[in-house]
Amino acid sequence: MPFNDTTHTMVMSEDGTFTAYSKEYDEHYHSTQDGALKESLLKHVHPAFKIKSHKDELYILDICYGLGFNTLATLYFLKKNNFTCRVNIYSPELDETLISSLNDFTYPKEFEEFKHIVLALSQDKVYDDEFLHVEIFIGDAREYIKEFNGVFDIVYQDAFSPTANPALWTLEYFADIKKAMKKDAILTTYSISLATRLALYENGFNIYLNSTDECRASSVAALIELDEFSYVDMKHKIACNKNAKPLRD
Ligand SMILES: C[S@@+](CC[C@H](N)C(=O)[O-])C[C@H]1O[C@@H](n2cnc3c(N)ncnc32)[C@H](O)[C@@H]1O
Repeated sequence: MPFNDTTHTMVMSEDGTFTAYSKEYDEHYHSTQDGALKESLLKHVHPAFKIKSHKDELYILDICYGLGFNTLATLYFLKKNNFTCRVNIYSPELDETLISSLNDFTYPKEFEEFKHIVLALSQDKVYDDEFLHVEIFIGDAREYIKEFNGVFDIVYQDAFSPTANPALWTLEYFADIKKAMKKDAILTTYSISLATRLALYENGFNIYLNSTDECRASSVAALIELDEFSYVDMKHKIACNKNAKPLRD
């Protein structure tokens, strides 16, 4: 199935890797300014593995699969660093047509060795080998996440923006995400908006800033304290922005 159609178009991003534009949401799948691969690695995979690289087995919730960059960048990172942990990735995605067309998407050369995984996922929505289990659930992430209780070590929160897709950024949504996570899990997201941080904070998460020289800053959230990132003083932010509110269902 050709990738470019009436709803998606491939677009070159700043780091030389392709992302896509969605006509339905009027948004790109990644920041074209930061670059698709860079965004995945620097805003999601690197911060997550900064605190999770010691584990023998990991469970990752990838919200939402889209072009699959966060899943594939995780595999790339593990291979590059010779990590041998077993990884289980669960990823909801509404758009079945998109998933079926991914074998025709032009991925970065860094993902070349995962072509067989892209093919299996685009055809069967599942891939399994000795070290890896990936499954894509075709349907609504809001329903899907309710099935899990204390399962995930890592959550990649990478939905379209709160403006374009508010249902995946509300206080109630993050309550379900919290329930699906282990107590020592980490959540990564590109969003640094106060409303997103409030939705997490009001669910008991500590909020941190993830910053690098190569990419715009992003957020990390955890129920435990993390020394690896800069702590965001939410009490101070709330005092300075008395009218700020999280999104609600
Ligand atoms: C920003 S893109 C995800 C980008 C992806 N992480 C990547 O690396 O390519 C957001 C995705 O969320 C999907 N989506 C929107 N609402 C959803 C929902 N309620 N449940 C599941 N998927 C949803 C869209 O179809 C789109 O593919």
